[in-house]
Order: sequence, then structure tokens, then C-alpha cells
Amino acid sequence: MAKHLLVTGGCGFIGSNYVRQVLSEKVYRVTNFDKLTYAGNPENLRDVEGNPDYRFVRGDIASREDVERVFSDKIDYVVNFAAESHVDRSILDPDAFVMTNITGTYRLLEAARKAGVERFLQISTDEVYGSLGTDGKFREDTPLSPNSPYSASKASADMLALSYFRTFGMAVIITRCSNNYGPYQFPEKLIPLLVTNALADKELPVYGDGLNVRDWIHVADHCRGIELVLHEGAPGNVYNIGADNERTNIEIVKVILKVLRKPESLITYVKDRPGHDRRYAIDATKAKRELGFSVTVPFEAGIAETVDWYVENREWWERIKTGAYMDYYARQYNR
Ligand code: NAD
Ligand code: DAU
Repeated sequence: MAKHLLVTGGCGFIGSNYVRQVLSEKVYRVTNFDKLTYAGNPENLRDVEGNPDYRFVRGDIASREDVERVFSDKIDYVVNFAAESHVDRSILDPDAFVMTNITGTYRLLEAARKAGVERFLQISTDEVYGSLGTDGKFREDTPLSPNSPYSASKASADMLALSYFRTFGMAVIITRCSNNYGPYQFPEKLIPLLVTNALADKELPVYGDGLNVRDWIHVADHCRGIELVLHEGAPGNVYNIGADNERTNIEIVKVILKVLRKPESLITYVKDRPGHDRRYAIDATKAKRELGFSVTVPFEAGIAETVDWYVENREWWERIKTGAYMDYYARQYNR
């Protein structure tokens, strides 16, 4: 009988790409457990809804009852994507970040321990390491030094997850990946925000001097890395995932304008993000050496294909930008 994989947050950006990828390999029964917050969109997985190996359960990882309900079925693997994921929102209102990212991870760990799951993969982020100067890269033994309520909540979840390995011997593994881009990314994040604004001839807001650096990876490569770590990773270990692809924000803006043939006059420098991390760069040597991880999508091809996806799926993002997305956060930031 196929193994039962519980994916939380599968209606979000990375979770939906991961569910589609693993179902295409036909090795699991997949349950997608998602609260459907503003960032969770059932449209992202409409194409797999008829798949007999897939089911959706609406629920909150921070609710003990909801979590116990989903664990009443035998679960072999847990991959926890569910999170509040947007740094700017955590600055405006951290409450949901603490509830979902910390309490929610705790509820899942506790339920998974009681159920005796085979493996629990916590999807973390390079942001837990804080900010780099001009040199060096984040390694798995870089001390945690999170700066935003978002990254502090993710670092807290990492600590809880590792405690379940050390105290209870649970097979917990953590991945820490750099910035993802690709299809189905919510249009508040830098790349889809730039593409969708440029397509509508709206201004492209660049924080500060535009010289902050992020290390970009295509979501499909991240998902392949997750699958590898889930099965080949050593319990109690952390694995960085990245593509050695550092870019300044202004470089990203210019690449997108070039692909879309839009003018640089759309660029608008705006007030900087408070506590804005200057530079992220991931050293993924451990995953490469120990697990054979490698990336397959070159940045230039990946970004062109991603821009095309937003051009071709205008209805998907226009519905978001004129619907529930127009909440307090979006109004505050004039997005
Ligand atoms: P996202 O915001 O697009 O999606 C989050 C999903 O989680 C949504 O479907 C939402 O409905 C669901 N969710 C939120 N709160 C929930 C709750 N209480 N219970 C159940 N479901 C809930 O996020 P994303 O960008 O796909 O990120 C997924 C994970 O990957 C997060 O844990 C994030 O920290 C991590 N990560 C993201 C990136 C990136 O570049 N986006 C990079 C590294 C790590
Ligand atoms: O590094 C991994 C992290 O990447 C994930 O853990 C987070 O979930 C994800 O949101 C992302 O965080 P960032 O803060 O790096 O991503 P964001 O897209 O918000 O911003 C990327 C960079 O672009 C950052 O330096 C801030 C800048 N920016 C962002 C927005 C939304 C702008 O200049 N203008 C903008 O309007």
C-alpha cells in the first residue's frame, strides 16, 4: 500500500508545486491540510482534484482538534509548509505568525509523536540565520540570529522541531532554503509583485537603495530538494537548499523589465523595510555532498518561464489582486 504523506499548507506557493510534483511521481497517498488563509488558494491545485491519490482537508495546524482529526488516519510522513510567510505582514501584525508558525508547528510535532510517524520534515528558511555582510554564506552551523517576527517565529519552530528529535527520538529533519520564485507565487512577494505590476504599467516599489541581496532558486528545484531530504536526510539534521544565485533586488527588477520590454521609469524607490536583512547566501554543500542534491533550472530560463506563466495566467493573479488580497496589509502598503 502506498505511503500516506501529510502536506500542510499545500494550497500555498511552494506547497502546491510540491504536491503536483510528488503526485506526478505516483508514489503516495497525499492529504493536503490547509487553513486557506489569504495566501491559500484552492485554484493552485485545481488540476489534481480528481486524482484518487489526493484529498484536501481544511483545517488549522494551530488547532488541536483539527490536527487530531487529520491524524485519526494513519500518516507515514509529514511535510510542514503551513506558515505565515510574508516578512512585511509580520512587521505590521505578528500575531498570526506566532500562532501558526510556533504553536502550529508544536501541535503537528505533538500529534506526529503520538502517532509514531516515520519522518517529519519541517520546511524552514535561510532567514533564521539573520543577515550577512558582503562575504560568506550561511552554513547549517551558522548561529541562528533572526531579525523579523517572521524569521524569529520560524527559528522558534526549528528549535521545537529539533527538541523532538533530541528528547523523543522522533525522526525530524529541517530544510532551510533561500528565496523561491516560480508559478503560483502570491503577488505580494518581490518577483510576482514586479511582474504583475509591470504588466499593469504600475510602479515597481524598490525598498531602500535596491542593493539588498537575495539568493534565488526555482521552486521546482526546491521541491526536488525537499523530496530528497525527506527520504535520504539523516534524522536530527538540518539541510540548506540553494542554487548559488545571488542577485541584488535592482538587478531582479531590471531583468523583469527587460523580459517584459517595459520602461525603467516604472521603478520607484520607496521607504526601506524596518530591520531589512542586507544579504542572504546559502551554502548547500552538505545537501550536495551527502544527498547528491543539484539544481536543474538556470536562472535566466527560470525567470523567463516564470514571467510567461504570469502573462498566461492573468486571471489567476487579477482575481487575487482585486479580491481578498485587498486587506489591511495591502492598503497600508498601497499594493
Ligand atoms: P505561502 O504563504 O504561499 O503559503 C502558505 C500556506 O499555508 C497557505 O496555503 C496557507 O493557507 C497555509 N496556512 C497558513 N496558516 C495555516 C494554518 N494555521 N494552518 C494550516 N494552513 C495554514 O507560503 P510559501 O511561500 O509557499 O512558503 C511555504 C513554506 O516555505 C513556509 O513555511 C515558508 O516559511 C517556507 N519558505 C518559503 C520560501 C519562499 O521563498 N517563499 C523560502 C524558504 C522557505
Ligand atoms: O529567504 C527565504 C524567504 O524569502 C522566505 O522565508 C520568506 O517566506 C519569503 O517571503 C522571502 O522573504 P523576503 O523578505 O526575502 O522576500 P520578499 O519577496 O518579501 O522580498 C525580497 C526582497 O525584495 C527583499 O530584500 C525586500 C525587497 N522588496 C520586497 C517587496 C515586497 C522590495 O524591494 N519591494 C517590495 O515591494
